[in-house]
Amino acid sequence: MIPGRFYPVFAGHEIWQDLAAYLDRLAPSQVFLLTDEHVRHHCMAILYDKMPALKESPVFVLPPGEGSKDAWHAEAVWKWLSEYPAGKDALLINLGGGVVSDLGGFVAGTYKRGITFINLPTTLIGQADAAVGGKTGINLEGFKNQVGTISHPGAVFICPAFLKSLPVRALVSGYPEIIKTALVTGAEFWDDLNRVVLEAPEALPSLIRRCVMAKLSVADLDPEDRNERKCLNFGHTIGHALEGVSHSNGNEPLLHGEAVAAGMICEAYISTLLTGLDNRALDKMASLLKIFYDRPVQTRMDMSRFLMFASRDKKNSGGEIRFTLIEAPGKPVIDCPVQNEIIEKALRFYRESYTS
Ligand SMILES: NC(=O)c1ccc[n+]([C@@H]2O[C@H](COP(=O)([O-])OP(=O)(O)OC[C@H]3O[C@@H](n4cnc5c(N)ncnc54)[C@H](O)[C@@H]3O)[C@@H](O)[C@H]2O)c1
Repeated sequence: MIPGRFYPVFAGHEIWQDLAAYLDRLAPSQVFLLTDEHVRHHCMAILYDKMPALKESPVFVLPPGEGSKDAWHAEAVWKWLSEYPAGKDALLINLGGGVVSDLGGFVAGTYKRGITFINLPTTLIGQADAAVGGKTGINLEGFKNQVGTISHPGAVFICPAFLKSLPVRALVSGYPEIIKTALVTGAEFWDDLNRVVLEAPEALPSLIRRCVMAKLSVADLDPEDRNERKCLNFGHTIGHALEGVSHSNGNEPLLHGEAVAAGMICEAYISTLLTGLDNRALDKMASLLKIFYDRPVQTRMDMSRFLMFASRDKKNSGGEIRFTLIEAPGKPVIDCPVQNEIIEKALRFYRESYTS
């Protein structure tokens, strides 16, 4: 068990006893389950096998993917709860990846001004990142995470068995968030990361644990994302804009982690220009990311469109695009204004270093 300031996180194959004990203690009036189609197909049997009583709980199944993280689906889940009707003492269980925990946390955090929810993450991004920290939300007109709350889960239960059915592309898209957390939260974690065989499956449980501890140590200090916590946004200004553009142009959209990987390389390059990051640290980070991404992200695009997406980022202030940059591993610098020409230069750098 990892004790957080606001809620505990349980990780490992034994979480089922902890979940049963948690449900006994909470004694909710009703239990509702939120999931998506892929997760229902691959993970529901595991959940029902371990927790047969949950077979009685109503289930809302979202279409899979980022498209479900919007106001239309949030309203559909609110209505579903309301029509039952779910009372103030009901519990919502979010079983799925980052989309399910972001949407489900938002719905639970706002329905009747907040009912209890717990997260059972089933993707690597969910287990290492999205299910903890209390940030919940939805996209608005294709712009990422524009509406949301800080709503803490009652608890988080991380079961390694769920990752077995995850398609390789979705699994791989979890690594950039691990690399980012190591890079911004401590030189020690970063050095250790450079020593482990990252893609070895046996490394995952301990990496997930370290990410959760590192994320909680920052998010618990600054749950509202006003100061220290902003370090976790490294790679996400350019990453979210690339993700937003890719969802809007009708081609196959990028996964969140794929966009963040490209965003991290661009923002590390900007850090070499503006905050004195050593080129060797940039190379080290880029070579770690290249273990997983041999296919470059398309960064040749209409710049005004890209900048329109970047300008909607939540971190911006006073009309400026604000970045989290890094001085060195473990030394993030928050709220850095970056000019459009530098952003363009970084996208060019990414393109050239991936295609040469
Ligand atoms: N709130 C936060 O702090 C935070 C942090 C990081 C990312 N996020 C958000 O998380 C989202 C990305 O998360 P994600 O990559 O988990 O996306 P996701 O939830 O869309 O899952 C990716 C795909 O894997 C499928 N899937 C999930 N679990 C599976 C399993 N065990 N077996 C087979 N298929 C499975 C899903 O159906 C989906 O198709 C983004 O919206 C991002 O903004 C939030």
